[in-house]
Amino acid sequence: MNNPVFAANWKMNHGVADAQAFMRQFLAHYARAYDRSVMFFPSALTLHAVHAAVRERPDIKLGAQNIHWEDVGAFTGENSAAIARGAGARYTLVGHSERRHVFGETDEQAGKKVAAAFRGGLTPMLCVGEKLDERERGDTVAVVVRQLRAGMAHIEKAQVASCLVAYEPVWAIGTGKTATPADAASVHAAIRAELNALGGDRADSVPILYGGSVNRGNARALLDAPEVGGLLVGGASLDADGWAAICTT
Ligand code: PGA
Repeated sequence: MNNPVFAANWKMNHGVADAQAFMRQFLAHYARAYDRSVMFFPSALTLHAVHAAVRERPDIKLGAQNIHWEDVGAFTGENSAAIARGAGARYTLVGHSERRHVFGETDEQAGKKVAAAFRGGLTPMLCVGEKLDERERGDTVAVVVRQLRAGMAHIEKAQVASCLVAYEPVWAIGTGKTATPADAASVHAAIRAELNALGGDRADSVPILYGGSVNRGNARALLDAPEVGGLLVGGASLDADGWAAICTT
């Protein structure tokens, strides 16, 4: 796959001081490369400091882990797409499995957030993935197709081609269990087919990242799988040297 995307999802880790130290170390080990993209999703409160830390490195892209679906208003504790953009984000995760399964976010809300991201000047990375019981019932493709349709329900066909998608089987996130490259390839192929149905041929350019217990040992094999256009990495993105090694895989 050309120009893979390496995306670090820091979740609720790395406050300002840790993030600054991480970036000093990471940038010393990761030289600008034109054949790949590197992206960080820090905590909302850390975003601005990370933005400042990468000022000299326009190749490093930043995103929010979550946004609200409204543009402004009385939503205590939430951040709009525009607020995230003001802090340095150009991307946002939408519908990460922890948002869906820990915080009860629905398909419908994910769809509204994808539309809000575009209104606020962010590119959404829509996350989809099945739970273990859904996989065991043979429902994997049905689940990711349902999540894709709902996630893209409120945007124009042309905007589908501007999204990123991450396939993260819920049973593989933070568990040390990874989908095999063949498993990932077959679900990614189904995602590509649905993206083409939703967005036409231009959706061929939408990168489909794989996520779920990616590490230095399995990154290359997953990236080599057909239709895997990048990696969305949680735990293994928290160490600067380890993450630099994955980004130069
Ligand atoms: P993990 O998390 O790499 O720690 O499994 C991935 C994710 O949730 O994005």
